[in-house]
Amino acid sequence: MAKEIKTIGVLTSGGDAPGMNAAIRAVVRRALSCGLSVKGIKKGYQGLLNEEIIDMDAHSVSDIIQKGGTILGTARCLEFKTPEGQAKGAEICRKHGIDGMVVIGGDGSYRGAQALSRNGINTIGMPGTIDLDISCTEYTIGFDTAVNTAMQAIDRVRDTSSSHERCSIIEVMGRNAGYIALWCGIANGAEDILLPEKYDYDEQQIINNIIANRKKGKTHHIIINAEGIGHSTSMAKRIEAATGVETRATILGYMQRGGSPTAKDRYYASLMGAYSVDILVEGKSNRTVGLQNGEIVDFDIEEALNMTKELSEYAYQVSKSLAR
Ligand code: ADP
Ligand code: F6P
Repeated sequence: MAKEIKTIGVLTSGGDAPGMNAAIRAVVRRALSCGLSVKGIKKGYQGLLNEEIIDMDAHSVSDIIQKGGTILGTARCLEFKTPEGQAKGAEICRKHGIDGMVVIGGDGSYRGAQALSRNGINTIGMPGTIDLDISCTEYTIGFDTAVNTAMQAIDRVRDTSSSHERCSIIEVMGRNAGYIALWCGIANGAEDILLPEKYDYDEQQIINNIIANRKKGKTHHIIINAEGIGHSTSMAKRIEAATGVETRATILGYMQRGGSPTAKDRYYASLMGAYSVDILVEGKSNRTVGLQNGEIVDFDIEEALNMTKELSEYAYQVSKSLAR
């Protein structure tokens, strides 16, 4: 028989993402509307092990839906990767009466959620990362805001790049995944896109493109470089030396993780947050929530972590054909 949940905990873990606050708000308010009590765990799994646990009511999530970051804070916690740390975390949950948990984070955080489930705490993972790199879901909370923030910044760089007839290399986040780079590459009309999934890019080809475009009269050349390729500054020096075209590197960095979430991030954070509570109430555990074909669905965490998804080759080819 499914274990009846009376009190749920919520935490954010790993890199923060815009929309995490909207997700926390949804979890808290949905749980309250189901007659549950809610506890907020500060600073991810580290805060759990330190027992940084607060009571949450409807008012504690007022005025946060529009805010970037996470009011609970987030952290990375090595101790929680150990069986002892995980058992201790579950024990602390029991001590505070927490019998269900919602973890908002990326793949790594799901492993922690899995460990809590194994240790007897019904736990659900929710996808919160700007990188869009969780295979079981078409959408991760934070991606839309991050990609729009990067797009607007790249538009600005393009203005000055055109005025000075320069080539610009703009580095966007994505250590292991090129979704932000690919989306910006298309949305900003970049001439070249470098993705961690296509590590063997041809720098000579880029140099040839710049020279050919210059001959055609193009006044700028935008290269979107994903963090996973990196080295934008040294790449700029090499390209300038080879083409004779002044080349500058701009690394957008953490500004992509901040800011007020877009409607899309708030919407999916709200729906996924409510859904996470609903499945906890149904007695489910060790599940992760995702978006598939426009529907919110849930998967076993192990199954979800074993899934793969690929960047769209078609989108990549389209970007190339539109950029010449
Ligand atoms: P993300 O969730 O964004 O992928 P991380 O990979 O840094 O970020 O993971 C966030 C946290 O989740 C880690 O600091 C750790 O506390 C926890 N975590 C990661 N991997 C595991 C694991 N294998 N077992 C238990 N907890 C883990
Ligand atoms: O949030 C995702 C991400 O921005 C990745 O693209 C990047 O590799 C990582 O986080 C860097 O985060 P931190 O410096 O906080 O470890």
